[in-house]
Amino acid sequence: MKLAKLLYKCENCGHETSKWQGKCLECDSWNSLSAVETITSPDAYGVNLLKPASYTHLSQAADEYGDQKAIRMGISEIDRILSGGLLKGSVTLLGGEPGIGKSTLLLQIAASAEKNTKVMYLSAEEAVSQVAMRAVRLNLTAADITLVHATTVTEIFACAREVSPDIMIIDSIQTVADPTLPAATGSVTQVRAVAELLVKFAKEKQTAVIMAGHVTKDGTLAGPKVLEHLVDTVISFEGDRHHELRILTVLKHRFGPAGEVAILAMTGEGLKEVADPSQIMLADRCIDTSGSMAVPVLEGQRCLLVELQALAVKTSMANPKRQVQGVATSRLGIVLGILEQRIGCTFSNRDVFVSVAGGLKVAEPALDLALSLCLVSAFYDIAIDNQLLACGEVGLGGEIRQVTGMDKRLIEAARMGFKRVIVPSTTSLDSIPASVSLDLEIIKVPTLRQAIKALSIK
Ligand code: TYD
Ligand code: MG
Repeated sequence: MKLAKLLYKCENCGHETSKWQGKCLECDSWNSLSAVETITSPDAYGVNLLKPASYTHLSQAADEYGDQKAIRMGISEIDRILSGGLLKGSVTLLGGEPGIGKSTLLLQIAASAEKNTKVMYLSAEEAVSQVAMRAVRLNLTAADITLVHATTVTEIFACAREVSPDIMIIDSIQTVADPTLPAATGSVTQVRAVAELLVKFAKEKQTAVIMAGHVTKDGTLAGPKVLEHLVDTVISFEGDRHHELRILTVLKHRFGPAGEVAILAMTGEGLKEVADPSQIMLADRCIDTSGSMAVPVLEGQRCLLVELQALAVKTSMANPKRQVQGVATSRLGIVLGILEQRIGCTFSNRDVFVSVAGGLKVAEPALDLALSLCLVSAFYDIAIDNQLLACGEVGLGGEIRQVTGMDKRLIEAARMGFKRVIVPSTTSLDSIPASVSLDLEIIKVPTLRQAIKALSIK
């Protein structure tokens, strides 16, 4: 016996309630509740026993799938962050703001994928003619790609049955709909339903699916936080639309390490690999100006040098501004607190602006020391020696703490021609291979006060 029950479900957060309300009590959004009929079966366990789920032994599955080779995408930076390429049956979400270059990247990887890979490029957003024009512009017309324009999952699956692709690209998830659902295209209900169907398809047919997803201004994937749980890999595509640098960060990866970063440049001929990212990051560096310093940061397995900049402008406002770009506001707050309490540098009458030049977001605490030194330099308006680097975490007591990967950071600093580097006093140089000769003066400091002294500006 089946029992049908009417429930009201919030399209925004998925909260369920038995009574209709104008406002969702869970996420406070208005008019987001819609009626759904749920079927409950009192003998659910008994019914399912008639048809068991398919099962296998681990060793058998390991034999079958263990040495599965990834499909190489042909752009080495992309293959590197995906731990070798796309695995069969995997689902990847590429999230980024409109206009950042998602369609361009997807077309490029579709064209450069390993030989004998059947690629189906489904564009729901653009007509076939628009994609073709982009392909002409990128000189990719010889690529072996099946181009499809469709906006419903039913059309997509019907087409995929005929083409049986190894890789299916969906551009974008927000513009594809499940026609059996009443919700509008792009709504959370639709996006989640379409993604679930695509994941099921990918696993059943062993097709690698990549879907583009738009992110909102605040940087979250539009609506579907839920999508991140459904897919195997989440890549965020960021950068400043007015600059050529584009940064791809692996936020989640079920088949390898997360946190890997690829750096590409958007040129007139599409996205190109960048041979020396540190050099590009420091190309327009502001030299002999207060508040600026280069910092070695680890992005995944790789070290990059970036320029950190700070301004501390006098203000008479009761609530001085704290604005950051590429650094967490909470981290800036902690560093300002330490500078006030431990060093006696008070910023309560200063507007503070901090930025990582080049559009990179740095979350690691290794930035603390350079951030503190930039702020002190901005405070006294005295420039820091441009051949000097700093790297270390600053504790609440004003002590400088160790950070990981110091060997990689020092090697990169020396390679880029820096001469001096301030590091935590406990830094060990044992992990640097004997064959590498570091032409660097290494200044070990136990406290922030001593690090500031090493700047010779106070
Ligand atoms: P697009 O891939 O359409 O972005 P998305 O799919 O994320 O919305 O890229 C759009 C931008 O990229 C557009 O501003 C033009 C620029 N672009 C180039 O600079 N060079 C190129 O070769 C191409 C194809 C696009
Ligand atoms: Mg697009």
